[in-house]
Amino acid sequence: MKRIFAAILLLATAVSASAQDKSSVKVGAPEGDQVIPREIYGQFAEHLGSGIYGGIWVGPESPIPNINGYRTDVLEALKAIKVPLVRWPGGCFADDYHWRNGIGPREKRPSITNNNWGGTVEDNSFGTHEFLDFCELLGCEPYISGNVGSGSVEELADWIEYMTAASDTPMSRLRRQNGRDKPWKVKYIGIGNEAWGCGGNMRPEYYSDLLRRYATYCHDFDGNKLFIIASGASDYDYNWTDVILKNRKGKMDGISLHYYSVDNWGNKGSATDFTKDDWYWVLGKSTEVEEVIKNHIALMDKYDPRKRIALCLDEWGTWWNVEPGTNPGHLFQQSTMRDAMVASTTLDICHKYSDRLKMTNIAQMVNVLQAMVLTQGEKMLLTPTYYVYKMYTVHQGATFLPVEVSTATKEVRGGRGKATRTIPLLSATASRDGAGRVHVSLSNLDADNVHEVTVDLEAVSKSSKAVGEILASKNITDHNEFGKAEVVKTVPFKDFRIKGGQLTVKMPAASIVTIELQ
Ligand code: AHR
Repeated sequence: MKRIFAAILLLATAVSASAQDKSSVKVGAPEGDQVIPREIYGQFAEHLGSGIYGGIWVGPESPIPNINGYRTDVLEALKAIKVPLVRWPGGCFADDYHWRNGIGPREKRPSITNNNWGGTVEDNSFGTHEFLDFCELLGCEPYISGNVGSGSVEELADWIEYMTAASDTPMSRLRRQNGRDKPWKVKYIGIGNEAWGCGGNMRPEYYSDLLRRYATYCHDFDGNKLFIIASGASDYDYNWTDVILKNRKGKMDGISLHYYSVDNWGNKGSATDFTKDDWYWVLGKSTEVEEVIKNHIALMDKYDPRKRIALCLDEWGTWWNVEPGTNPGHLFQQSTMRDAMVASTTLDICHKYSDRLKMTNIAQMVNVLQAMVLTQGEKMLLTPTYYVYKMYTVHQGATFLPVEVSTATKEVRGGRGKATRTIPLLSATASRDGAGRVHVSLSNLDADNVHEVTVDLEAVSKSSKAVGEILASKNITDHNEFGKAEVVKTVPFKDFRIKGGQLTVKMPAASIVTIELQ
């Protein structure tokens, strides 16, 4: 794998830095058995703003159409992107959440203040049962983020027993009293969230001891098998990963990583009012995740050369100033073609490293940060990022095909101590699904120029039949608005030729395309 990444980099940087409108991609035969895990397409749903209340959950009595309290429109939209897993209840909220407040008859549950996100009062009507039933409805794996910061070992151990024990135990009895006989299947358990920050402001040495202790009491009940994820580093904090791995003992199946596309936390910029310079800056920042992933993986290779521990990028995405007039603590932002481009290029990178990177959770699923869907009362809209996820469903669980990209690069405005960053203007990924179909996804990062892309597929397909889909819009700031016709959405794409394993695609500026070889 490593040799191929190096080749990609070399080719990308070797080409002149001036704008060019021709790029080429060579798709290679599969190497080994690397599959793109479905969990790369995971989601994150925190008790934050209307991420849960109003966004997913309206309650069974709501006039908004719902299935047992879950919004029908949101549920259907999420089903269409084949969500493989959802992380809940946070985020920062997780280390302030006490699960017992969210079980039993809803009218008897205590209200709480959401201390992390705007001090909003929540009635706890969405708790463990509501979340796990939601995952069952959606057909996805739940990922429970446990409370280490302000919770106890006993609290987490009991929660796991409550959710997963089949035999007659104190916690399974309590669950049965609350109306659920059969245990749920719960695989992913996070031992705290951002333990270096909102999860307790700990030092890695201290957290690694807590991790060992908490994980010891995360038991596998009655055939349920847990996958334990350590609270990992933020961005460039390699020391955190190093210390956690060095000190590990006992259960640990994964370690997390958080990476948001922000350089200036004081003023993150508008989600919809931006220039081409801002477009390129964020693509520079978001594609820098490749370097960050590589560096964390290098540390993991040192301590775990057999790749038993997974890297889980369990929070990532864009983070803009909130929409004018909305609660600053609710992180409600719009999403444009720029966010879509961040999503496609990040997913392309994640595919490459999926021999170690086994899960990602974009932040967040509904109404928060780089969301899939936004709601306003009874209205709902699909974001450009949603359409990337929809277009990329074909890569879920498919065999990874390595790609070599040759394209122009561009020096773009930097941040975080870097005057500039360099980005390739074309991003690509490819895979072969269970039925033998090859899918190639291409992103033209160039905001001004059409790129003619030649794709050499000879090693994987000689097909002369293909269909395509494109996500593009007239302006890079275009986005979808409540109650108006959709501006940014995928449509069929025909501007390509294919002959004997050679595909030529004419990609409009700032566009994302997926071609299926039939
Ligand atoms: O996604 C919003 C917040 O970002 C999460 O609660 C926290 O984990 C991170 O800092």
